[in-house]
Parts: sequence; C-alpha cells; structure tokens
Amino acid sequence: MPVVLPTPQNLDRAAALLRGGGVVAFPTETVYGLGADAFDARAVARIFAIKARPEFDPLIVHVLDEAMLTRVASDVPAAARTLIERFWPGPLTLILRKNPALPELVTSGLPTVAVRMPAHPIARALLERTDRALAAPSANPFGRLSPTSAQHVDRMLGERVDLIVDGGPCEHGLESTIVAFGPEAVVLRPGAIPAGAIEAALGYALAPVALDDEVPQAPGRLPHHYAPRTPLRLIDPQGVPASERVRAGLVALSRACAGYAQVRLLSESENLREAAARLFETLHELDELGLDRIDVEPLPERDLGVAIMDRLRRAAAR
Ligand code: TXA
Ligand code: MG
Repeated sequence: MPVVLPTPQNLDRAAALLRGGGVVAFPTETVYGLGADAFDARAVARIFAIKARPEFDPLIVHVLDEAMLTRVASDVPAAARTLIERFWPGPLTLILRKNPALPELVTSGLPTVAVRMPAHPIARALLERTDRALAAPSANPFGRLSPTSAQHVDRMLGERVDLIVDGGPCEHGLESTIVAFGPEAVVLRPGAIPAGAIEAALGYALAPVALDDEVPQAPGRLPHHYAPRTPLRLIDPQGVPASERVRAGLVALSRACAGYAQVRLLSESENLREAAARLFETLHELDELGLDRIDVEPLPERDLGVAIMDRLRRAAAR
C-alpha cells in the first residue's frame, strides 16, 4: 500500500482511514507502529491478523494527553503519576488498570492496559486529528525485527495495511521501556529509557522482575523475538575461524574484525544512543544480503546497552 509523506493532506487521509476502521502504519520516536482505533474491536482484530500476532499478546494504546488517558485507564497510582510527569510524552509505557469501556481484545482479556503518550509529531498529529486513542504495536510481523523506517514496514507488511506514513528513521530505534506497578514498580521490558533514569525519577531502586503470575508475562519477553531471518549469534569475533567469516556479517560497537564479508559498526564513538538507533536498521540491512550468518559482538550492558542486549539475545534464540 502507498507510502506517503506526512503532508497535511496525507495526515487528514490517514486520520480518515483510522476513523473508518482502517489500519495505518506511522512513525513514533521509538519504532514504527501499526495503528487502529483502540475502541473499534474490528479494526484492532485486523492488527492481530496483519501481524499474525497471537491474541494472548496485548497491544500498547497511544494517547494524546491526560484527557485521552482517562478514556483508556481507570486508575493512576502515585508512582505512575511521577513517571508521567517526568517522561511523557516519550518512550515510556505504563501498565495501568484498564477502563472497562476499552475492548477486551486490546488487552487480551487482562485487567490492565499498556499505555503510552508518544512524543513524535506525526503520531501526535494522528491522535489529534482522529481524537481516538490508537492501539499500535510495532509494525512488524510477530517475532520479526522491529521497523525503524517506513521502508521496513513496506517490505514486511506493505500489501496488508491501508497506508504507511513516512516520517523518516526513528530517533530511538528501540521500543519503549514498559513499567508495571504492584507493591513496587517493575520494568517488564527494558527500552529507550534506561532503568537508571526511572529509578532516579522514583527515588528508589526498581524491583527485580518476578516471573510469577503476579506480573503478566509481556510476550516481548518470549525468548525468540525481534529476529532477522538470517541466523544470528552473539559471539566474540576474535574467536571465530576465518573460514566462518567469509560468508558472514559482523555487527560490533566500534571495532571491526578482518575477514568478514560485511562489517557494520553501531557507533565508532561508543555512544550507546547512537548504537541503539542503528541496531534494527543495521540488522534489516544485513538480513537482505543473503549472508550465511550474522555475528554480533556483545555490547556493554550498561545504560541503553541493557535494552540492546535484551533484543540481541532474543534475536539469537532459535
Ligand atoms: O515503543 C513502543 O512501545 C512501540 C511503539 C509503536 O509504541 N510499540 C511496541 O508494541 O513495542 P509491541 O506490541 O510490539 O509491544 C508491546 C509489549 C508486548 O510485549 C506486550 O506483551 C506488552 O507490551 N503488553 C501490552 N499490554 C500489556 C499488559 N497489560 N501487561 C503486560 N504487558 C503488556
Ligand atoms: Mg513488537
């Protein structure tokens, strides 16, 4: 389907499609989302079908402002309020008690809803023009690499969506950080806001993730996820025999290694923000080259490196 630039006319067209039950891909500051009116169960069902996403995996709902938040969620605990004031609009998703009016399909029957207020001007323009909360998971087939450009969406899902709004590459290139609230705040998915920044805002250390029934499993945490079709492994390239390098690609933070067919450095200055922003783009690009394998050198697990390594471990799990 057409990839269009975000002119006022095209944003009106996208908004009209969304109001009429259409499915439109649009950029956010994290990754591209596949959006539909969160209160139109039929449109939401199309999202699941287009992504081949299992219905037990709930969607994130995007809101424009606090007024729209109250249509979607029915209770905001104090810790969530603190994070909203510090990080919204931005790449933070909160798990809140769901408003009963929101269709069950959006939340896969859970009593909670994942909500975020995006900062990206195109996402905001669509929320404003539709005046609808928009359910929007990442715009990739379930389990595949997340899309950080309109071209990624077009290649993976182009024929199946009503419109793709092209806002260029995404600023963060990594999905939002997801935080849930029990007795204590818990990070369910590391993402574009490092856990340390959330702890600083809350004034206390976050609880470790408890993998029990109390915390609904975020299926983004399924071991195999975010994967290219080319087999990927996390490995120190120095230990890889030359014979294995010749038809393989190497992704590393800042240092190349001789003998690889393709080498991509994520950030020569070892800036993890830059590395995060390039991660999915780099994997999409190498995945198109017909390599035997993609070797990725492990990155330091501090700051955004935690979320980057989370995605890479899942991409490597087969
Ligand atoms: O940055 C992002 O968050 C992007 C952009 C498009 O906003 N969206 C995104 O959505 O990454 P998605 O659907 O790919 O990931 C949403 C994750 C899934 O792992 C889902 O299981 C989890 O959020 N989730 C949704 N609702 C939940 C809930 N009520 N409780 C726990 N986890 C939930
Ligand atoms: Mg996703």
